[in-house]
Amino acid sequence: VKSRMVVDKSFKISEINKRIYGSFIEHLGRAVYGGIYDPGHPTADEQGFRQDVLDLVKELQVPIVRYPGGNMVSAYNWEDGVGPKEKRPRRLELAWSSTETNDVGTNEFFDWAKKANAEVMMAVNLGTRGIDAARNLLEYCNHSGGTYYSDLRKAHGYSKPHNIKTWCLGNEMDGPWQIGHKTAYEYGRLAAETAKAMRIVDPTIELVSCGSSNSEMPTFPQWEADTLEHTYDYVDFISLHQYYGNRNNDTANFLAKSLDMDNFIQTVIATCDYIKAKKRSKKSMHLSFDEWNVWFHSNEQDKKIEPWSVAPALLEDIYTFEDALLVGSILNTLLKHSDRVKVACMAQLVNVIAPIMTETGGGAWKQTIFYPYYYTSVYGRGTALQSIVESPKYDSKDFTDVPYLDQSVVYNEDKEELVIFAVNRHLENQLLVDVDIRSFADYKLVEHVVLENDDPKAVNTLHHEQVKPHKYGKSYMEDDKLVAVLPKMSWNMIRLK
Ligand code: AHR
Repeated sequence: VKSRMVVDKSFKISEINKRIYGSFIEHLGRAVYGGIYDPGHPTADEQGFRQDVLDLVKELQVPIVRYPGGNMVSAYNWEDGVGPKEKRPRRLELAWSSTETNDVGTNEFFDWAKKANAEVMMAVNLGTRGIDAARNLLEYCNHSGGTYYSDLRKAHGYSKPHNIKTWCLGNEMDGPWQIGHKTAYEYGRLAAETAKAMRIVDPTIELVSCGSSNSEMPTFPQWEADTLEHTYDYVDFISLHQYYGNRNNDTANFLAKSLDMDNFIQTVIATCDYIKAKKRSKKSMHLSFDEWNVWFHSNEQDKKIEPWSVAPALLEDIYTFEDALLVGSILNTLLKHSDRVKVACMAQLVNVIAPIMTETGGGAWKQTIFYPYYYTSVYGRGTALQSIVESPKYDSKDFTDVPYLDQSVVYNEDKEELVIFAVNRHLENQLLVDVDIRSFADYKLVEHVVLENDDPKAVNTLHHEQVKPHKYGKSYMEDDKLVAVLPKMSWNMIRLK
């Protein structure tokens, strides 16, 4: 099967904001306890943070990590997680029916993020709480000193402010499952007033208004239009969340789901621009796709979890090879929208629907989805280019005209490097792509990394890594052109210099 691409330096989409390679740690299941924090672990540091996990997080070069939720934040009292550990209360955690020990809270997480070379993206509770708790937490984190909450932080051992820049105004407030769920009017008003107060405390922060929990929400996209009527002037981002699954075991349809994500992003952009026009605003709203991933494998087993356990094994999806292909396409989609999507978070990072898995007290390993995330995060920096693509197409259960070739192109000017990320969605045939690289005429092929497997359901475990990339891709140069050879059902990174 043949297809064609034209790549040119001057076809720019945007500078890529590295924060699109962000991730997420929620107080949920074993993400924190047994994941990043495991004081009894042989690799734990003086704060109880696992070094083996930190090493894997650093390998991914995750620039920003959202915290502490997720659904959990909507009934969270941040005060429970600061100060002397022996005085911290154990609480019923209502979002996941677990017991929260509060051994880790804001300050510890800030320290962990620093060790991981990541920024923190903090969420405030707009479910059970509101303006007051949000402005107090911000004062605690970012104010230098001489006031009640900034001095409290100092008393807790943190003399310097954390200067956390990015703040989410609640989480999924459109969802009936959310503690303190609100109508668009209720949320829009509360978020706008909270934003106003927070900006007075610290005018340098960036704020994220909650968009829809997913594109199937009955209130989508009216929720975006209605809430932005209130929040538009006070926020920098609107959030998007989306998870995909292959419940009907239809791989061709599953691999096309990044088209749904593309459509979701386009609709949110259109809605933001409609409000921009209505308000005669000069500001274009940015998008924070702050929860995305594959999530469905663990749904059944999660129904059997004993309520009020401490750190139960929740949302522990074991990812297959085909999941890694969709993750690759999702990353391509984010890159193709990098002019508006400036933050994105793979949800989540450790144990909970995550690229990194651990045994509490034991080893850590890379899931299949680790690899496209790793390569795109490490090599997908610079400028996203718009390529002209001709590809044969197929129809699936939910989609028509699905290109077999899914791609994104990044030009890293500093490194003088051209990087093509490509998924071949064809389940049986390899795809030959003639790539016209015109303005990169003197560039040579550096490497062609391939993630392929004959079994779409192949998984990785602690002791057996069935799905891992190799560097024996068969792409070659021919008369100043690149011929990309993409094996059937594969994810690829082709790097030229
Ligand atoms: O990431 C898991 C959960 O998915 C988050 O807590 C919530 O925001 C979303 O529904």
